[in-house]
Amino acid sequence: MMTGQLSIISLSILSIWFFSSHGKADTVSPWQYQTFKSATYQPPNMTIEKHGRTEPGFLFFDQTWAGTVDYAPLIMTDENELVWQGPMPAEDNTIFGLRPQTFEGKPVLTYWRGTGYGDPLGFGYGVIYLLDQSYEEIYRVTLEDSSFAVVENLTIPSWIDLHESKLTDRGSILVTAVNMTQYDLRSVGGEEDGWIADSLFYELDVKTSRVLYRWSALEHVDEIPLEGSLLPIDGLGNNRTYAWGAFHINSVDFFDDGAYLISSRYYCSIYRINRNGTVDWVLNGRSGGDFKLGPGVDFCYQHDARIRHTSEDAVIISMFNNANSPVENGTSPSTGLLLRLDLNTHEATLERKLLDSRDVIYSESQGNYQHLPGGHTLLGHGQIPKFKEYDANGSCVMTLQFGENNEVSSYRGFRLPWIGKPKTPPSVWACSSGNSTHIYMSWNGATELTGWNVYGGSNASHLQLVGSVPKKGFETTIVIGSVRYVQVEGKEGALMSRTSSVVPVNATC
Ligand SMILES: *[C@@H]1O[C@H](CO)[C@@H](O)[C@H](O)[C@H]1NC(C)=O
Ligand SMILES: *[C@@H]1O[C@H](CO)[C@@H](O)[C@H](O)[C@H]1NC(C)=O
Ligand SMILES: *[C@@H]1O[C@H](CO)[C@@H](O)[C@H](O)[C@H]1NC(C)=O
Ligand SMILES: *[C@@H]1O[C@H](CO)[C@@H](O)[C@H](O)[C@H]1NC(C)=O
Ligand SMILES: *[C@@H]1O[C@H](CO)[C@@H](O)[C@H](O)[C@H]1NC(C)=O
Ligand SMILES: *[C@@H]1O[C@H](CO)[C@@H](O)[C@H](O)[C@H]1NC(C)=O
Ligand SMILES: *[C@@H]1O[C@H](CO)[C@@H](O)[C@H](O)[C@H]1NC(C)=O
Ligand SMILES: *[C@@H]1O[C@H](CO)[C@@H](O)[C@H](O)[C@H]1NC(C)=O
Ligand SMILES: *[C@@H]1O[C@H](CO)[C@@H](O)[C@H](O)[C@H]1NC(C)=O
Repeated sequence: MMTGQLSIISLSILSIWFFSSHGKADTVSPWQYQTFKSATYQPPNMTIEKHGRTEPGFLFFDQTWAGTVDYAPLIMTDENELVWQGPMPAEDNTIFGLRPQTFEGKPVLTYWRGTGYGDPLGFGYGVIYLLDQSYEEIYRVTLEDSSFAVVENLTIPSWIDLHESKLTDRGSILVTAVNMTQYDLRSVGGEEDGWIADSLFYELDVKTSRVLYRWSALEHVDEIPLEGSLLPIDGLGNNRTYAWGAFHINSVDFFDDGAYLISSRYYCSIYRINRNGTVDWVLNGRSGGDFKLGPGVDFCYQHDARIRHTSEDAVIISMFNNANSPVENGTSPSTGLLLRLDLNTHEATLERKLLDSRDVIYSESQGNYQHLPGGHTLLGHGQIPKFKEYDANGSCVMTLQFGENNEVSSYRGFRLPWIGKPKTPPSVWACSSGNSTHIYMSWNGATELTGWNVYGGSNASHLQLVGSVPKKGFETTIVIGSVRYVQVEGKEGALMSRTSSVVPVNATC
């Protein structure tokens, strides 16, 4: 019904199909990156504007480039300092959704790693990693099912899509998956033997990857008819490589009674899925669905629909309302929304709408809405590499940018506390300049690092303490007299410490 009114997807979108296939840097980004002497990390030189008090916590994000480069996931401070640079994705690999979560009562880091494909399908095949506080892998969650049909000629180790990696409080994780499926698409203007990208979600056991729950949108077309998708079929659905990605589930959350909340990008809808698979209700951001939309309630192409609060009478839901997509963009700003759904009157009312009128953003893909413990909200703008923090009154108190618009993106972004105690040792590099030695030291991920002891000498096995210095940023420097060998010791308070290897001073500064 609404499909016909929308513009046709241009072939230029199809040509950026593979967005992570060439490894690092054959294109030079104009964005500036920080460099260090003691490590090869290259975090972005962020631009940070603060307009008020911000909440504590580090920033967690990934950097995927819609062009040719994928950079590592990062933990940084809101003062432009690197805390931890994660693994650099290998060729044909990308990393999505870095965030701290809790598993069995302990803090963990999670991220998705795999092969990603850009719009119009915008999905991936991969695995989810759980790291402990020492950044060591503790679990790897996979979805193995030989019945999945793949885009052509790929060997897929695991079918987990890149959109969701939410841990539950019951030892499981919520994920999505995409299954290219042959389907009669004549009702929406496609071919009888057409191809659709079925959109599924799963609850998997973290330790065993066992499937605890599975739901497929295509198995519920009676409740979610194909005609409801706003993604035009034009040019899509003829073969499995260019299957029609009608549903595009991009977030999964869970209710205490076992039901799930899912968000469909191209239906502009949020569904409560009963544990028995039936759609309990749908909130459509344009037509309302099972709800009457109150003043200002209007969303489309949204991401990250979350349950904020539930009661007998109401559900409060947050989301990042992109309001833009590859098929419709540039007219309505992207916003953060908090909505109250009255389950008795079936009205959806606006509790909060977050928008920075000084810097309006139109984000066609990705993004998230994170409620912070002190009442603030962090919005990740997905395709636009900016985070904005809003205070409890809805004023923007911080804007942070980490790349060129529409070039670098972070699927989601989080501000959270984190304690990291890496198993890897500190790093040191030194050079000589006349009769002095310049020493550079860092320790990737060591959030408890307070300062350094520096050892030097002319005999590698007889080094002496030559200086102590408090930690200053990611890389701390000190200048001492002439020595041939150096070693540094990172101190975590007064009691814990860890030494680097002994390195010769070979370079001239
Ligand atoms: C980072 O940006 C600041 C402010 O714009 C600038 O002074 C500094 O030189 C930049 N650093 C790098 C490494 O590009
Ligand atoms: C897939 O592999 C087959 C057989 O090797 C080849 O004929 C076909 O062109 C390949 N398709 C793509 C899209 O690469
Ligand atoms: C994937 O789709 C095929 C049909 O194309 C179907 O046979 C198979 O069961 C589906 N797999 C899953 C996990 O839904
Ligand atoms: C698949 O469909 C796309 C889009 O219509 C087309 O460009 C491509 O050539 C088709 N591929 C094959 C192998 O038929
Ligand atoms: C699922 O449960 C709901 C509510 O209890 C019920 O209305 C619906 O018919 C059930 N669906 C199936 C397929 O059993
Ligand atoms: C929407 O995005 C497409 C693809 O990037 C682009 O071709 C088109 O010009 C955009 N439309 C608007 C109104 O910005
Ligand atoms: C928020 O609004 C209240 C009431 O208008 C005011 O008292 C308070 O100072 C405001 N807080 C901030 C952070 O602006
Ligand atoms: C370094 O000290 C060790 C132990 O005292 C000694 O055996 C060695 O010869 C010394 N090396 C140099 C290069 O002086
Ligand atoms: C290094 O040499 C300069 C003169 O060349 C001298 O002033 C300085 O005290 C020396 N520093 C050390 C640490 O020996």
